Amino acid sequence: MATILPADKQRFIDELIDLLKIPTISADSKYNDDIKKGASWVQNALSKAGCTVTEIFPTKGHPIVYGERLIDPNLPTVLVYGHYDVQPPDPVELWDSPPFEPIIKKTDLHQEGAIFARGACDDKGQMYMHIKALEMMVTHGELPCNVKFMIEGEEEVGSDNLELFIQEHKEKLANDVILISDTGMISNTQPSITTGLRGLSYMEVVITGPNRDLHSGLYGGAVANPINILTQMIAQLHDDNNRITIPGFYEGVEDSSKEERAEMAKAPFSLEDYKNEIKIPAVHGETGYTTLERNSIRPTLDVNGIWGGYTGEGAKTVIASKAHAKISMRLVPGQDWEVISDLFTKHFKSIAPESVSVEIIKHHGGQAYVTPTDNIGYQAAHKAYAETFGTDPIPQKGGGSIPIVPLFEDVLGTKSVLMGFGLDSDAIHSPNEHFGLFNFFKGIETIPLFYKHYVDLVNENKN
Ligand code: BES
Ligand code: MN
Ligand code: MN
Repeated sequence: MATILPADKQRFIDELIDLLKIPTISADSKYNDDIKKGASWVQNALSKAGCTVTEIFPTKGHPIVYGERLIDPNLPTVLVYGHYDVQPPDPVELWDSPPFEPIIKKTDLHQEGAIFARGACDDKGQMYMHIKALEMMVTHGELPCNVKFMIEGEEEVGSDNLELFIQEHKEKLANDVILISDTGMISNTQPSITTGLRGLSYMEVVITGPNRDLHSGLYGGAVANPINILTQMIAQLHDDNNRITIPGFYEGVEDSSKEERAEMAKAPFSLEDYKNEIKIPAVHGETGYTTLERNSIRPTLDVNGIWGGYTGEGAKTVIASKAHAKISMRLVPGQDWEVISDLFTKHFKSIAPESVSVEIIKHHGGQAYVTPTDNIGYQAAHKAYAETFGTDPIPQKGGGSIPIVPLFEDVLGTKSVLMGFGLDSDAIHSPNEHFGLFNFFKGIETIPLFYKHYVDLVNENKN
């Protein structure tokens, strides 16, 4: 396989910087024009890299970009999925440099430099590796099979319109394996391949007490304070062992085998480094499970935001009429996100005192996902990482969610291989998100090897 020429390296970085400058924030309609710009940018990049057909599909939400290079119907087809939309950069004041003015800086873990910008790792940088890998394969006459790209603009808001799109375009998207770089790996010296994603159920709750904000002296003590009530209710959602108290929540959760847990415990992990990196004095979680287990194979419930009452300068004595919270649950195989959303709703209503009313809004969700390691897509990825990193990658379940991945399997019938190159410390969704140049180029070198090994394994399996 060809290595990347220095001049190409610089050009690849410059191109990615160009893409990172477009604020493709899917959650905020103020950026709809930038989303469109981002979609055309990706379409153009796909066609320059060697896609013979490229299209933009408008949806009810943000457009989906499609591209293909089909060389022979008898060869396998890889479908690459990624997203060009990004999370809002807030809180912007915590960024050391503006989120849409990419700059390259060294970090402790990225001695060769990292690009700092919203979307650098999640997912523009990782998605762009696939476009450059295609360019490399086409330029060197090394593309061994058919390739299709589907790059969406609504991943960060739940991929609401992608499900319909894949149902309506099954033929067009037909493939043998789906390849995705939208996850991470353990470290730059110990690669890993993500074999699982958690599911998600995202809820919003509103507690209403009196019909208007009240003077807390005139009414305090005699009227339910929705903020007090909301926090009491939230506190009841975990028991003393940090287990979730919603009846039926753990029903169906398959307990991991001793073997799987022993295997997980072998992954290099330093609790001290973990605590140090995010500056916490101690970890916290479900009794009986390790930190790595807690953040990957166990379900969780977290408040993502909570608001109500007076939060401005100084003091205002008030009992607010309403209190709000956004609450999400990460789910594992055996849990169904819609069932969990209903169990949450029922339980949350049941623990409310008579003095308030409760409104519950269901946001998006999705099922958990597993890529088995005996799958040839997984094995091809394993060989590819082993070659470029010079060390065997380890399978590792990830704690994050990509809700569309299990739907790909349901609708298109194929497995997804999660070849991530980010690090947990790359600060995705946080201020100062970045992506290492080492990781970017390793990705571009590893992806063509995936294609090669995948096609070889398909052929071996035929014989
Ligand atoms: N790329 C992430 C998911 C991810 C990151 C998985 C790292 C594993 C490791 C994706 O863009 C994401 O942020 N997903 C959301 C869910 C979505 C419905 C908003 C998530 O996990 O919170
Ligand atoms: Mn992502
Ligand atoms: Mn994300």
